[in-house]
Amino acid sequence: MLIKKPDSIKSSQITPESIYRNRRQFMKAGLGLAAVSSLGLPSIAQALEYDIPADLPQYPGPEWMRAQLAAAVRNDAFSTSEEPAPYYNAITHNNFYEFGTDKRDPVRKAQNFKTDPWTVEIAGEVAKPGKYNLEDILKPHALEDRVYRLRCVEAWSMVIPWLGFPLADLIKRFEPTSKAKFVRFETLVDKEQMPEQDSIFSTIDWPYVEGLRMDEAMNPLTLMAVGVYGNALPPQNGAPLRLVVPWKYGFKSIKSIVKIEFVEEMPASSWNIIAPGEYGFFANVNPEVDHPRWSQATERRLPSSLLSPNIVDTQPYNGYGEEVAHMYKGMDLKKWY
Ligand code: MTE
Repeated sequence: MLIKKPDSIKSSQITPESIYRNRRQFMKAGLGLAAVSSLGLPSIAQALEYDIPADLPQYPGPEWMRAQLAAAVRNDAFSTSEEPAPYYNAITHNNFYEFGTDKRDPVRKAQNFKTDPWTVEIAGEVAKPGKYNLEDILKPHALEDRVYRLRCVEAWSMVIPWLGFPLADLIKRFEPTSKAKFVRFETLVDKEQMPEQDSIFSTIDWPYVEGLRMDEAMNPLTLMAVGVYGNALPPQNGAPLRLVVPWKYGFKSIKSIVKIEFVEEMPASSWNIIAPGEYGFFANVNPEVDHPRWSQATERRLPSSLLSPNIVDTQPYNGYGEEVAHMYKGMDLKKWY
């Protein structure tokens, strides 16, 4: 990616002492703003037993969403038993270019991002198109807690516990027609709230757009997420609604979705538009197909440090081959990267 590599996370932050120091900086910089108001509320995360240190902000989400979040149940069948990344790493090391290109920009600049009320447009080849309040989109769905690996194309990775529901369940409700071969997603455009969208140096032609083939969208692993670590999504992680496609490079997991469109042709996707020779539409995690500028054979699992880089082998389909490899049978994965 024009996305930087190696990324800018400081190795010092993984030792307990420096985590402590960084937390203090985090709070000192006033980054908790929206979240600070949430301190003192009962912690939904505690119900799911995630370790969220008391001095880090929590994101309980809008009032109407809380009971649903609290009722989320762990889905072990779809969860890795690997240890989730510390909460700190997940909410401070982000790619969300709308807020800037540095890994710290989203946490620094997204705290006042308004994510309630929120509208999602369902469009295209579908029986029930329309603009729906997020509340109505979510209402019928029981939330699951699923612990997935997230592998960024920049060769870092994290284990993250998401709260969400299968995209397939949402798709079925809106009844796509037989012409719907792909699903296209769009992120919000709001130059006032998302400073990078107003930058003349921005490489992305906003909105950020992504897409999946219909069978990929319907795969039971594909998740619409509204939370992490037992709470609502922090704005920097893509609140209030994002996609999580764990066998694909992280850039497919589009954040802050405002439009879901059913289309006949393979839709354009933001990184593919910018650098088609580097980022394909499919973007399945593949240790055997290197990025033109770096190897994809291994990844740096966060947290990592100079002394303990925590480099692990990258697995085909990010370890989800059993669930997804059948969808790509016979495809030349070097061509369709
Ligand atoms: N969605 C939008 N709208 N804008 C972005 O810049 N970055 C992508 C993806 N979704 C991005 C996005 C990339 S490159 C990655 S790796 C993941 O979000 C990172 O998700 P995280 O910050 O929650 O770890």
